[in-house]
Amino acid sequence: MKNDLKQRENWTTRLGFILAAAGSAVGLGNIWRFPYVTGTNGGAAFLFIYLIAIIIIGYPLMVTEMTLGRKSQRNPVGAFKSLAPNSPWWLVGGLGVLTGFVILSYYSVVAGWSLAYIFKALSGFTPDMAFGELFGAHISGVAVPIFWHAVFMIITIGVISAGVVKGIQRAVKTLMPILFILLLVLIFRSVTLEGAGEGLTFYLTPDFSVITWQTIMDAIAQAFFTLSLGMGAMITYGSYLSEDANIGDNAAYVVGLDTLIAVLAGFAIFPALFAVTDVSPSAGPGLTFITLPAVFAEMPLGSFFGFLFFVLLSVAALTSAISLLEVVVAWAVDEKDMERKKASIIIGIIIFLVGIPPVLGYSAWSGFSFIGFDILDSYDWIANSIFLPLGGLLTAIFAGYVWKAKNLQDEANKKSGVINIGAWYGFLIKIVVPIAIAVVMIVSIVQTFTG
Ligand code: TRP
Repeated sequence: MKNDLKQRENWTTRLGFILAAAGSAVGLGNIWRFPYVTGTNGGAAFLFIYLIAIIIIGYPLMVTEMTLGRKSQRNPVGAFKSLAPNSPWWLVGGLGVLTGFVILSYYSVVAGWSLAYIFKALSGFTPDMAFGELFGAHISGVAVPIFWHAVFMIITIGVISAGVVKGIQRAVKTLMPILFILLLVLIFRSVTLEGAGEGLTFYLTPDFSVITWQTIMDAIAQAFFTLSLGMGAMITYGSYLSEDANIGDNAAYVVGLDTLIAVLAGFAIFPALFAVTDVSPSAGPGLTFITLPAVFAEMPLGSFFGFLFFVLLSVAALTSAISLLEVVVAWAVDEKDMERKKASIIIGIIIFLVGIPPVLGYSAWSGFSFIGFDILDSYDWIANSIFLPLGGLLTAIFAGYVWKAKNLQDEANKKSGVINIGAWYGFLIKIVVPIAIAVVMIVSIVQTFTG
């Protein structure tokens, strides 16, 4: 509210916005989380359900968040306040700010693993190395993972304190295309390895008998996480969007690019997993860090490519992390009248501290278990299986019934584009999205706690 008189920064070009939003979406979620969640959920059948979740839940919510942001020109808390004054709806934005906090705290830990692997690649990946043990030894350290987690948070704070256009837009423009090309090189190596066929079968031939409510919940959670939905990140980014942007098209680019990169990461990982490692697809959070070094070890100039890959993965993580921190900082700046730099530093330090328990969960506190999860997985479960779907559910209800689907449709279509938002949107956002999320959440939570 207090920022009304200041001219709000706008993305300088349309491409700048798409790349920044895609930069938020494309990150560890695509290259680290997607393959391991697909692996623990049996492969192809999960991929199938995930793609459905992206289309019927992800895309409509992407449109919704971007439009709420553009209309209100505010952070998530301010957006709900300005569209529904004197009502408790701002709490949905508040939940989003809290979720950003939780996700970034452990996201930065995993990004720290990626930073550390830049240097492991430099000292060489060779076919005789035991990559499972290398990874286990790394995460069960204390000082080293905390050090890289700190480095990653410092870089994130640096970008965010520089401001939206200068900081975020500049970083993503050159780096995203390079990541894409490198992924293609990796796929080529992975699918041409001897024994790659088994991995392709695992990834592409669905066995629908393995699907449970939990599988569907994991697919929805992954859709939210990978698209940066459910906590107002896209409300915040949309708030820097100008009037002459068509939202249907922008949202389609972001969802399409993100899905493409995740699916490609699966093609890089699963063939190699079966061909050159003895790791199970359900190895969990270590999957990418164990499998890809094994692929690099099988390539000419593998250590160089490994180095380049982990640099780019760290950059992809950075462009996502900045969107997480930006949500919290935009709230502090707009609603609490804090100065941007000061807010970035204070909030960044608190998030760093909250991220220390997930590191210790692999060493000093490895005895901790919550419904079978270690500390990092527990943070991940609370954020992705509870907070994000709940935030998405409430956002859909707000857009469909409180602000009204028709108003949102008109706002999104202000400038017409290739994909204009039609009546189908109202049906999805008012009925399909809320019912699907609510049913799956309730059943899977009940099952989680009753075994
Ligand atoms: N989408 C990012 C990834 O896939 C993570 C992320 C960034 C995120 N911002 C978010 C997840 C907001 C949920 C909400 O790596």
